[in-house]
Amino acid sequence: MTDAMSAQNFFPTSRLEDAEGEGLNPTNNRTMGEIVAARFSRRDFLRGSLAATAIAATVSPLALLSADEAKAEAGASRFSFTEVEAGIDETHHVAEGYDADVLLRWGDALFPDSPAFDPVNQTPEAQARQFGYNNDYVGFIPLDGSSEHGLLVVNHEYTNEHLMFPGIVKVEGEKLVISPADRKRVDIEMAAHGGTIVEIRKTDGKWQVVRDGAMNRRITSNTEMMLTGPAAGDVRLQTVADTSGRKVFGTINNCAGGVTPWGTYIMAEENIHGYFSGELPADHREAANYKRLGIPEGTYAWGQFHDRFDLAKDPNEANRFGWVVEVDAMDPNSVPKKRTALGRFKHEGADNIVAKDGRVVFYLGDDERFDYVYKFVTAGKFDPADRAANMDLLDEGTLHVAKFEEDGTMEWMPLTFGQGKLTAENGFASQADVLIETRRAADLLGATPMDRPEDIGPNAENGRVYVMLTNNSKRKDDKVDAANPRANNAFGHIIEIAEDEGDFAALKGKWEILLKCGDPSVAAVGATFSTETTKNGWFGMPDNCAVDTDGRLWVSTDGNSPKATGRTDGLFAVDTDGPARGTSKLFFRVPVGAEMCGPLLLPDMQTAFVAVQHPGDGGEDWDGFGRLSYYEDLSTRWPDFKPDMPVRPSVVAITKQGGGKIA
Ligand code: FEO
Ligand code: CA
Ligand code: CA
Repeated sequence: MTDAMSAQNFFPTSRLEDAEGEGLNPTNNRTMGEIVAARFSRRDFLRGSLAATAIAATVSPLALLSADEAKAEAGASRFSFTEVEAGIDETHHVAEGYDADVLLRWGDALFPDSPAFDPVNQTPEAQARQFGYNNDYVGFIPLDGSSEHGLLVVNHEYTNEHLMFPGIVKVEGEKLVISPADRKRVDIEMAAHGGTIVEIRKTDGKWQVVRDGAMNRRITSNTEMMLTGPAAGDVRLQTVADTSGRKVFGTINNCAGGVTPWGTYIMAEENIHGYFSGELPADHREAANYKRLGIPEGTYAWGQFHDRFDLAKDPNEANRFGWVVEVDAMDPNSVPKKRTALGRFKHEGADNIVAKDGRVVFYLGDDERFDYVYKFVTAGKFDPADRAANMDLLDEGTLHVAKFEEDGTMEWMPLTFGQGKLTAENGFASQADVLIETRRAADLLGATPMDRPEDIGPNAENGRVYVMLTNNSKRKDDKVDAANPRANNAFGHIIEIAEDEGDFAALKGKWEILLKCGDPSVAAVGATFSTETTKNGWFGMPDNCAVDTDGRLWVSTDGNSPKATGRTDGLFAVDTDGPARGTSKLFFRVPVGAEMCGPLLLPDMQTAFVAVQHPGDGGEDWDGFGRLSYYEDLSTRWPDFKPDMPVRPSVVAITKQGGGKIA
């Protein structure tokens, strides 16, 4: 979800990430006034900014090379495609020689009995049988071990009423005013949230949806789920509707996610605060807990029609959201499980990898200004020969939070009840309390407050881990530190972690900054893309990432716009190794108003899936439109471009013309 949508902040759905706030972390981890001498790695010297050039002349070994030699060395990118030109218009663009085909759009049929998409007469029942809104995470679970046949799993993060529903918007000056929601609209929204599991097959080089796939499934904000792990059944998870504290309906704001080595689908619950409204009863024990998460924010009207989203009527329901959800995609009747062992916060994603000793490591970002980077290490080991034995691995293990030191080392600190400050003295009576209030527990351990941690991608090939930090315009000069080195960090950065001994389960590691993002031609921005990065290849606001089978990094962005960076969001190929380290190239760009989600490269590297989220949400800062965009007057009608079809968030399959590996 876009953060830097200043022009659209009057829109409730744009406020979910506390766009106007200072962040919700009340602590002062990293003392005020702690100004850090920036840590320059050798690679920092090689980057393209003016300052770096000046320093490199005296320090860098590469500076001793002639200009031509240096260029040849720096040019050894591992990506071979011809870059797309950065810019903005009403449609998508992919690198020359590739096809980008829309595979699934909002409203598409997923079952033989799915009603045809009729946006003017949409119903909750129809929506629950159709592809949902605002596709974000895209994962693939191979069937028959193939990269040409499998289950596509897709999160539907949230809904944009002004783009979805006809006849509800009035333009008043600089604002769009949305009419109050009724029950039907809310129920359509609830059915448009959640996830999709759908069988897909590649035939003659083109992907198709298998509509009668036996495992096809929609998960919505009403699907029955189970809370499992250390917090399940805790009194703080018991509600009016569920005195067991274990049975919950639905999942919301599923941003990124993951697929486990045992073939389950992970959905991360992110900005849950917007769905709750009403006031907690006076002196309720959850007041501080909810405040730390910004609950209630009341963006959506769900609480007016469903008591559980009204804090006054069911005060504990909000404790049952903000978890990581695991779904057995192979069994369409399975009950999804909210795995409390992985903590409760604004979970961006849950990318994971098997460590040397067989334990499984999940990297978890908490997407809020000044919040933290986490990792969960399972207690048990992955057994590749016995799927059933892995199915509850996520119920036992240790959640850790990251502390990035100034000297380039780091520590993963366990969030374990009874250890350190996580005791009764500080209001924790059990591990359940530590998990329900993960942020407060991490505050007490002195974790490093980050510039909005998004996706985190481990790379099996080089043993390193990439952390997307999307931006933080509220970081002041006196709050910068080595790991978050820019005040008013408008464009974000990427940190690279090298876990000790290349062991993903290690509790210590080293880190450095791979990239400071933004326009490298503007010295004041301080961006550190390589000098080989063209005017098309740089980006701001890294959000999601993927590591392909060859160990190459792909980054998708959220928040580039004519006003912010003079371009749309896109998918960028980023070199992390060798002389080309820090080089970025634009592979795909989205239509006006959209954000780039996914991405996913299939194991055979012949397909990339990307998710185009909220296309048409904006356009007032684009010369080609220049006014507010809503259902009746859209800045784009991508992907159908039919006058009677609204804009539709969609998943796009990218393949090389004539076949072959991508890029
Ligand atoms: Fe849903 Fe952190 O973006
Ligand atoms: Ca996003
Ligand atoms: Ca995201």
